Amino acid sequence: MSSKIETLSGYFHDYQKSIVNPHRFWSRIAENSHWREKWTKVVEHDFKKLSIKWFIDGKLNITENIFEKNLFIFGDKPAIIWEANDPNEKGVTLSYRELFIEVCKFSNVLLKHGIKKGDRVILYMPMIPEAAIAMLACARIGAVHSIVFAGFSAQSLAERINDCDAKMVLTSDGNYRGAKVIPVKDVVDEALKQCSSVNKVIVVKRTKTEVTMKAHQDLWWHEEISEVSDVNIAETMDSEDLLFILYTSGSTGKPKGVVHTTGGYMVYTKYTFENVFQYSQGDVYWCTADIGWITGHSYIIYGPLLAGATTLMFEGIPTYPDAGRFWEIVDKYKVNQFYTAPTAIRALQTHGIEPVLKHSLASLKVLGSVGEPINEEAWHWYHDHIGKGRCPIVDTWWQTETGGIMLSPIAGVTPTKPAYATLPMPGILPVILDNDGVELIGNSVEGNLCIQFPWPSMIRTIYGDHKRCFETYFSQFPGYYFSGDGVKRDEDGYYRILGRVDDVINVSGHRLGTAEVENAINEHPLVVESAVVGFAHDIKGQGIYAYVICDMTNRSEASLNLEIREMVSNMIGPLAKPDIIQFVPDLPKTRSGKIMRRILRKIAENDTSNLGDTSTLLNPEVVDAIIKSVNKK
Ligand code: PRX
Repeated sequence: MSSKIETLSGYFHDYQKSIVNPHRFWSRIAENSHWREKWTKVVEHDFKKLSIKWFIDGKLNITENIFEKNLFIFGDKPAIIWEANDPNEKGVTLSYRELFIEVCKFSNVLLKHGIKKGDRVILYMPMIPEAAIAMLACARIGAVHSIVFAGFSAQSLAERINDCDAKMVLTSDGNYRGAKVIPVKDVVDEALKQCSSVNKVIVVKRTKTEVTMKAHQDLWWHEEISEVSDVNIAETMDSEDLLFILYTSGSTGKPKGVVHTTGGYMVYTKYTFENVFQYSQGDVYWCTADIGWITGHSYIIYGPLLAGATTLMFEGIPTYPDAGRFWEIVDKYKVNQFYTAPTAIRALQTHGIEPVLKHSLASLKVLGSVGEPINEEAWHWYHDHIGKGRCPIVDTWWQTETGGIMLSPIAGVTPTKPAYATLPMPGILPVILDNDGVELIGNSVEGNLCIQFPWPSMIRTIYGDHKRCFETYFSQFPGYYFSGDGVKRDEDGYYRILGRVDDVINVSGHRLGTAEVENAINEHPLVVESAVVGFAHDIKGQGIYAYVICDMTNRSEASLNLEIREMVSNMIGPLAKPDIIQFVPDLPKTRSGKIMRRILRKIAENDTSNLGDTSTLLNPEVVDAIIKSVNKK
């Protein structure tokens, strides 16, 4: 059965079918994949006890669905086109056959070093083809990959390695980012001082940065790969065997290892990729995310490769060597579908349209947006100047936990509306609940975005902490998955995401927990207490505003400011550095000792005319003191 949606009535028809009989609907879609053994039951779930299973008893290997299934048809077709950071460096194109050989070889390297089904392997790598090869090799032998964005600090890397008890780390000597070279192997060395589970590190030579290679532990990728066979038989995986763990931030505690399993993730990422982007064979598709985030997993690697697409991977940044780099790449490879984050659009917008006008962009057919709400101004700029008014914009709402796109227009099928993620994908049942858990029926309502029925690529658990998974997503509104986002359903039944309703902030499309940043700030020896909130930022979407109580004796604000920012960078990574640090005498607290963030958010947004009810505060006088200290600046 073709699962391609081609018309609006086709979408409504499929949506209806998916809701009336999800078993039959997903069974038909899953039949398009190759299973070593077919499932006995499509889905079984209990959100109250938190048990979710898809394609029960099905046996498969996801890489067999990328390679063996496709090789006869797509063997010589480019699978990955890789563009280097430096525009003068020659790129690499790997056909499906060539990629397959590399994946088989690296699978054999992993096996040779004792990695077996179920073992965890951490990737801390730049955007180079080896990163894709490593992911797929893990999946091929049944090892669980956990990719850590290479901008995270040694401390963050160590926490993730320890949390999942990883046996191996894959990295590179260095990482090119624009004009900078980042010594990533040094970060791994630093992290491993705190980790005992890792016994091998495999290093790709990328920047020729000098590194220390520890005997019996560190190995060069190119040496390892030259010594193994290029034949590898894929491991048999159960549908519910772990495919990967990806750490993400929440409102409390340390980042959580979101667990995705094999069968459902495969079915859903392929289905949504083909439909949302309306990919046609021969198209070149480009998603600018990093593989360290879920977007890179689902829509650079798995979704596109399962669909037999040509996926472009870019090592660099949008503004190097200049603000026309994205558009130069679009023209160079005749990109048809382009998928990026609003923060990149807004950053490029500030450079004006000169850099855009130097390029034709005639190949573009579809534009995508992901990671944060896209404001109307950025939407129009993208639509008019990049899409030249002819490319539909798919504003895709989803999360690390959802694994794949949940709300989005289908390109060219669903009429779009600026800043709206429009309608749910087939199989997705969004509901809006008020704070008491009452469902808001009908249109023109807003509240908490929840999902009522399971979908194949949803989170199964938090690695090592099933209880936390239940408490975070399934306990606030029993019987539903709670996304943590606010949403509006307008008069046409279209969905618009309003942003997080919890203590998560979204900085340039990167999720950070306020508690995580506060913990890092509090590590500074002179800091007594801190409170972090998000505030509207023209380019980043949200910026980080930190209120800090600090012992300032004999110290200047400027030096403490620098030290605290450095502290956060070392503890988490540069992406978590506060934009504004406000030294305050105290923090507004309720009688039960909880910081009143609502007030701090308003002050950060410079909206102090109506601070709401402050009568429940233990120390209401502090609000004026904070406002005064802000005004003094
Ligand atoms: O607040 C929503 C926002 O990003 C959060 C998920 O972040 P993460 O797990 O890092 O995944 C990002 C990439 C899928 C959501 O809870 N978000 C994501 N996409 C959109 C969005 N907000 C508005 N519109 C979107 N299209």
